[in-house]
Amino acid sequence: ISLKNFNTFGVSCAAKKFIEVRDEKTLTELYSKGYFQQKFFILGGGSNVLFTKDFEGTIIKIANRGIQHFIEGSNIFVTAAGGEVWNDLVWYCINHDFPGLENLALIPGTVGASPVQNIGAYGTELMHIFYSCRAFDTRTGEFRTFTNKECAFTYRDSIFKSKYKGRFIILSVTYKLSLNTPINTSYGAIETELEKRGITTPTIKNIAEVVSYIRVEKLPDPTTIGNAGSFFKNPIIPHDQIETLCAMYPTLVFYPLENNESKVAAGWLIEQAGWKGKEIGQVAIWKNQALVLTNKGQATGSEIFEVSTQIIDTVFQKFGIKLEREVNIL
Ligand code: EPU
Repeated sequence: ISLKNFNTFGVSCAAKKFIEVRDEKTLTELYSKGYFQQKFFILGGGSNVLFTKDFEGTIIKIANRGIQHFIEGSNIFVTAAGGEVWNDLVWYCINHDFPGLENLALIPGTVGASPVQNIGAYGTELMHIFYSCRAFDTRTGEFRTFTNKECAFTYRDSIFKSKYKGRFIILSVTYKLSLNTPINTSYGAIETELEKRGITTPTIKNIAEVVSYIRVEKLPDPTTIGNAGSFFKNPIIPHDQIETLCAMYPTLVFYPLENNESKVAAGWLIEQAGWKGKEIGQVAIWKNQALVLTNKGQATGSEIFEVSTQIIDTVFQKFGIKLEREVNIL
């Protein structure tokens, strides 16, 4: 089966087998038939994966559905199936007047993928609203729950990307929201855009609209231009190194964290290394955001991978910082 329509990079590749899972029973059946003893890959929206060759195994696409909530005092617990589209969940919450997800509007992908890389944007991260998730252990065939703490969230990372990489299938996620959550306009561009629109007391709907607008302006639409959002993570480096770099590059963009570390804007590093807007065959570095690699139409996964290697090399030569890919490479 062709995977072209199942990865937002839009690269052509094939999988030996492809199974859509709509309920838990199917997983138990697949387990007893030995599917998880062979090569497999769990696919959500395909918005954070780069296929560099055909997949010689079974692609398991999580396609269960459903969103529910219950309110307890000022807390709201929202539970969504792993196969739900993330942005649909965001709008479910906005339409019910539940704050907390509005800054994460329009992030591509599914609910089940949201904890894996602790999705984040425009001043917030999933880890702040994640309560628990229900997951299937492909090694034992059992179901279990992970609490927020057990997921070991850090920037763009969780236990599902590290220790338990590829092992658990996330079937549903419960988010804990609060009716008292204040509006978050800490990300500069939100403030600017609200001002432009003359909005002084924004609602969560205003925030979601503004965030969606900023994303559309800055990021290529994966339905028309193949891409997987930020291809690299923003590197976290020690302060000493920041000081040395700042002396050489006073316009360096970075955000101080705890533990004497800072997060550097990888987009800035890539742009300074001369890549922004460049085209290499069928691969292009996005003109408005150098952190995004795009497929001009006919790029293969390995061509995109090759360009990413060149970017890593040149950024390392210039700044001594080794960029890490954020996208899963298969
Ligand atoms: N910058 C440049 N040149 C560029 C891109 C960025 O100089 O080509 C500098 C600018 O100074 C800009 C700063 O970097 O102000 C930060 O850029 P931006 O606000 O676009 O954010 P980012 O750090 O590049 C991260 C996330 C995005 C998320 C935005 C907004 C990562 C890897 N990426 O990007 O997430 O939308 O913040 O919060 O953390 C994604 O993960 O796929 C993604 C798009």
